[in-house]
Amino acid sequence: MKFFVDTADVKEIRELNDLGLLDGVTTNPSLILKSGGKIEDVTREICEMVDGPVSAEVTATEYSEMMREARALAKIADNVCIKVPLTLDGLKACRAIRSEGRLVNVTLCFSANQALLAAKAGASFISPFIGRLDDMNIDGMELISEIRTIYDNYDFNTEILAASIRTANHVKQAAMLGADVATVPPATLKALVKHPLTDKGLEAFLADWAKTGQKIG
Ligand code: G3P
Repeated sequence: MKFFVDTADVKEIRELNDLGLLDGVTTNPSLILKSGGKIEDVTREICEMVDGPVSAEVTATEYSEMMREARALAKIADNVCIKVPLTLDGLKACRAIRSEGRLVNVTLCFSANQALLAAKAGASFISPFIGRLDDMNIDGMELISEIRTIYDNYDFNTEILAASIRTANHVKQAAMLGADVATVPPATLKALVKHPLTDKGLEAFLADWAKTGQKIG
């Protein structure tokens, strides 16, 4: 499973990238707002830092304007992945941007049929929003499972990018169901390493080691 980080916070991205944890980054208009920077500047800085795809989202809702924005975003760096919403205009833009040789992430997916349409439009990634479905008492993981089955039935190459991840358990479940990628908020990504028995075990080893009076090397 690939790990993307779901943030536009350059400092957080640098830290996770230096740890070797990142295969890519996803941003959205809300995350750009939170970063306080200009979309072009923030995206450029992230793209220079991270080798993998960096999703930057168009904000137009009409096809021609989406294409204008997509081309402007594509100019920022070779690893910009254009993010488009799951609408009819978004799907049309997806097909066109793919034909221009760019990666496309189709976002705001809440149903298996939407994911099927995105795959047929040649999407590189489909982003089902797990947490937002869970918020409505609908099992977000069931959607991941449905999309996996459909994509496997027809050998679609579109990668399932589990988004709106809120917990470490979401990451585990998405991995078990065969999602190709998880885009995870920085704190949740770092929390994956935590286990109280690891901390307790390490503490005991270090205490015993101190008693030996030894030093390695
Ligand atoms: O990047 C899209 C998605 O991950 C947003 O998550 O927490 O705002 O539902 P959230």
